[in-house]
Amino acid sequence: MSTKIQSLETIASALVADGKGILAADETVGTLTKRFEKLKIPSTAESRRDYREMLFTAPGSASFISGAIMFDETIRQRSSNGTPVPEILSKHGTIPGIKVDTGAKPLAGSESETVTEGLDGLRDRLTDYRAMGARFAKWRAVIRITDRLPSRTCVSVNAHALGRYAALCQEQELVPIVEPEVLMEGDHSIERCDEVTGQVLHAVFNALYEQKVLLEGMLLKPNMIVSGNACPMQASVTDVADATLQCLLRHVPASVPGVVFLSGGQSDVTATAHLNEINTRARAAPWRISFSYGRALQDLALATWLGNKDNDQAAQQAYYHRARCNAAATLGKYTAAMENELTGKIAKGYRSEGEDD
Ligand code: 13P
Repeated sequence: MSTKIQSLETIASALVADGKGILAADETVGTLTKRFEKLKIPSTAESRRDYREMLFTAPGSASFISGAIMFDETIRQRSSNGTPVPEILSKHGTIPGIKVDTGAKPLAGSESETVTEGLDGLRDRLTDYRAMGARFAKWRAVIRITDRLPSRTCVSVNAHALGRYAALCQEQELVPIVEPEVLMEGDHSIERCDEVTGQVLHAVFNALYEQKVLLEGMLLKPNMIVSGNACPMQASVTDVADATLQCLLRHVPASVPGVVFLSGGQSDVTATAHLNEINTRARAAPWRISFSYGRALQDLALATWLGNKDNDQAAQQAYYHRARCNAAATLGKYTAAMENELTGKIAKGYRSEGEDD
């Protein structure tokens, strides 16, 4: 086996090591600024760096967090004492990762769909990111559900781009996280989410196969199979777990080492409960099942932090708490009672809204 293949497989397995998951902290400047503004936190390069540094250095969190995904701005920053941010992560035992797409842009010829861009010049950017310490990457495709959408064009161009991105990453010895997100915004049923997610996963793995992506050296970051957030009939936690597992078993090859879910706008506790339920019934699943959450790991911490260094410790405790609950959920060992174990000065009414990127 070539050393490159070996290294891809080693990194991919380390990211889904027993009882660990990934922190997605790769919000663009625009998205993080919106979240900061809701809480009246000034958004500057320094405040964004301080926030990320607070998360990345949270004591004990590396026992639950295998890797952290950064945005381009963060990977180039230095900590308050001059250490490059990727080095802070490695020193804490967290694998540095990087978001490499340049966003979901309007798809020509479609009324309201997007195609994720960022392939131009990607090979060179990946070389640079690897030299800065990144060992894995992320690319997010976005699929919207309505009565008539997604179009076949939207699914196929996004799948093709994910394939091209993943192949380039592996060439540059970075593990690609392949993220085809079927949005939960809408009034569609859980069955419709299942149908669309199945189509999308089928198209994505087809593209990965055609573009010779090594499945053993990648991770899949899918949505769970849930009811649309405006659907009057909300599926139960057990229905979500059953449907999600069935959909993945039908469409995700056994050679993929891990499936790491996005939270997609679920409340943090719901995202943990779903992950736990999926894992309690997935003992025979061929892949590890874990998390790569953004909002569901960060919401409570951000609302506790509020841009004030005096709140660093309380915010780190809030983040540690969610990381610990989700780590337990990867083992099917999360209980609702764990939610009462968070002590300290934490925020109330902390839900953020809106899409991630
Ligand atoms: P959420 O968990 O907030 O959906 O973010 C995950 C992510 O990385 C989206 O690209």
